Amino acid sequence: MSDSGSEWDFTSISSDRAPVNIDTTVAHPARMYDYYLGGKDNFAADRAAADAAMAAAPGMELTARMNRAFLGRAVRFLAESGIKQIIDIGTGIPTAGNTHQVAQEVDPQIRVVYIDNDPMVLIHARALMETQSQGTTTVIQADLREPEAILAHPQVRSLIDFTRPIAVNLVAILHFIKDEENPREILKTLREALPKGSYLVVSHCTLDFTPPEIGAALREIYNKATAPLVPRTHAEILEYFEGFELVEPGLVLPPLWHPDRIVSQEEAENAHFYAGVGRLL
Ligand SMILES: C[S@@+](CC[C@H](N)C(=O)[O-])C[C@H]1O[C@@H](n2cnc3c(N)ncnc32)[C@H](O)[C@@H]1O
Repeated sequence: MSDSGSEWDFTSISSDRAPVNIDTTVAHPARMYDYYLGGKDNFAADRAAADAAMAAAPGMELTARMNRAFLGRAVRFLAESGIKQIIDIGTGIPTAGNTHQVAQEVDPQIRVVYIDNDPMVLIHARALMETQSQGTTTVIQADLREPEAILAHPQVRSLIDFTRPIAVNLVAILHFIKDEENPREILKTLREALPKGSYLVVSHCTLDFTPPEIGAALREIYNKATAPLVPRTHAEILEYFEGFELVEPGLVLPPLWHPDRIVSQEEAENAHFYAGVGRLL
């Protein structure tokens, strides 16, 4: 058992053992997120940036936990709604409650394709897949900014049946896509490939509840990381659900989406995120 509380012991990769295509000197959001969640798969630069973010915005680690808990509840909802296939883009370094585990607890036959563009995520996710869920789960390296390549990928095509409803998870990833990279167009490409009855799961960073000076500090920290943070407003995030009908209670603070305990608005506002699930009309 690792210190992260994960069910697997993913031995940390020290900087000198890092794969050649990982620059350990620049903070990476996947590894910062791993650090917020108490994981060990991060380097000094990631920890320094995450520590700075937690100092600037106390509760950042709570934000990560609230987002992760939303992902778990949303995936359970999908599985209980009868979804049999999930494309999870922006997978993150495996930790407790990964998408395929939550889904396959409900139905072991649910198929999951994990997609991330970070080589280190791939190493850890593949290590997990080697011991888990052979045949129902796969991991590929691809970039959300190239949705056509994702849709045409042979492993996606072999595991996912595009004539049956599919859930696409974009959980804590769209805020790494800049406006000039046209996130709405990315969503449109994905949406047009999905049959009716498919689902879209989104969580996204917002500064709607954050004092401006804290927001500015967070932007500055993430601007020095490999992927700058692009927080968006409720109205902007809502636009990603074009063509989808939002499942109740809509696009809300993550702890308020199908809560499994009583959460006050005040507590939920620590999340710096919105979250929602839509069903394709
Ligand atoms: C904050 S983590 C979220 C992990 C997981 N979805 C969750 O919410 O617990 C964001 C992940 O998105 C990945 N990512 C960022 N930009 C990406 C892109 N353009 N294409 C694919 N993955 C990306 C990062 O490598 C990272 O693993």
